[in-house]
Amino acid sequence: MDLKIISVFLITLFLCGFAEKARFDHYRVYEVSINNDEQLSLMREIESYSDSYQFIEKSGTINSNTRLIVPPHKFAEFEEIVVRYEIKSRLLINNFQEIIDNEQPKGMKKGIFDWTRYWELNEIYEWFNILVTQFPNDVSIVNIGDSYEGRPILGLKLNIGGGANKKSIIFEGTHHAREWISAATVTYMLNELLTSNNTDVKDIAAAYEWYIFPVTNPDGYLYTWTNNRMWRKNRKPTSNLLCIGTDLNRNWDNFFNQGGTSFNPCDNTYAGSSPFSEPETKVLSEFIKTVPNLVGYFPFHSYSQILMVPYGWTHELLDNYHELYAIGEKALETLSSFYGTTYELGSIANVIYIATGASIDWVKYELKTNVTFEYEMRDVGAYGFNLPASQIIENSIEVFASIITILQEAQKIGIA
Ligand SMILES: *[C@@H]1O[C@H](CO)[C@@H](O)[C@H](O)[C@H]1NC(C)=O
Ligand SMILES: *[C@@H]1O[C@H](CO)[C@@H](O)[C@H](O)[C@H]1NC(C)=O
Ligand SMILES: [Zn+2]
Repeated sequence: MDLKIISVFLITLFLCGFAEKARFDHYRVYEVSINNDEQLSLMREIESYSDSYQFIEKSGTINSNTRLIVPPHKFAEFEEIVVRYEIKSRLLINNFQEIIDNEQPKGMKKGIFDWTRYWELNEIYEWFNILVTQFPNDVSIVNIGDSYEGRPILGLKLNIGGGANKKSIIFEGTHHAREWISAATVTYMLNELLTSNNTDVKDIAAAYEWYIFPVTNPDGYLYTWTNNRMWRKNRKPTSNLLCIGTDLNRNWDNFFNQGGTSFNPCDNTYAGSSPFSEPETKVLSEFIKTVPNLVGYFPFHSYSQILMVPYGWTHELLDNYHELYAIGEKALETLSSFYGTTYELGSIANVIYIATGASIDWVKYELKTNVTFEYEMRDVGAYGFNLPASQIIENSIEVFASIITILQEAQKIGIA
């Protein structure tokens, strides 16, 4: 092509809003052990100041492991660093792009909404419309407000069999954009609540009003489909011209920025400029306050296989922690009874690390909601955020059954 044709071609791409998708060909994933202060500081430096390395988990704490994506042009540097700082590292994935390419089923056409594949935001919203026509008496769409880029955050309200003054439960999906299994599992559970013939499920489904939000970070979720599969935050610009996005699950007005967060807008755990500075957390929190008789709040994340209860801001075991822990143990028995999947259980601060500004902490602290559990779902790292779609149904079955157990146990002791 001569230059003129090339420039016309480029201008056309530009005018069409062509989105170049980040690729991870031959990028490696390493597990790195952090065993001393120096190693920890090094990891923090890399997290904050390198635009080449990417942490899959946060840079962690001493005596923990973290996972790091290393691009090909950094292989040599990474090897040097590992030797110089005597860091134990293990190669987990040799070509990260392959993991991404194997997420969705191969050679299958998109058909009716189901759980054999992951779906985009507009496909989930279209499915909502189908459900509303299919179950006009039990289901309605809830629009709580817009994301930064102006997309509605939609949920479905379920009041199965009608009736007034029911207690309410909220499912919060995909606050973190790249955690696709969250949207998939939340839509699966929504479908089960509406269609299951299992009497235990039917009883629980009809006993509550449900507010179910598969995607509470629509801009970020869309961006993981169009631009960068590994995006976590929302898409609102920050004070740093180069760095976009706030970690929504650090932005809630609860001990804001008092640990486990970052002040650096380029970090994945950037808490934002102030509590509820982000439209997504603002509208969701305002909506939650209006829900009558709220008894249950469940955020769904991945990955790590951990069932967590508040709090993330303190190691102390507050409110009805012990009650919830006992319920959690029963729930995890149920969860593992299907495929043997094992989860850890504990408060956020004790089972992962101090993290402030999470939605579940705000709900527990401000509203004193009785039943509050946050899921970090499959897996423990083989695929991480890129769990193959072939695991959606198994993950959903075990998680949903554990939720039914939680609510049955909570009913038994009169807290739900
Ligand atoms: C549940 O029962 C209804 C009505 O009897 C039936 O139409 C439907 O196919 C059943 N659903 C499942 C998943 O078995
Ligand atoms: C929350 O639990 C308390 C008991 O600790 C109970 O009295 C109250 O009714 C529960 N709230 C709801 C909305 O069920
Ligand atoms: Zn998450």
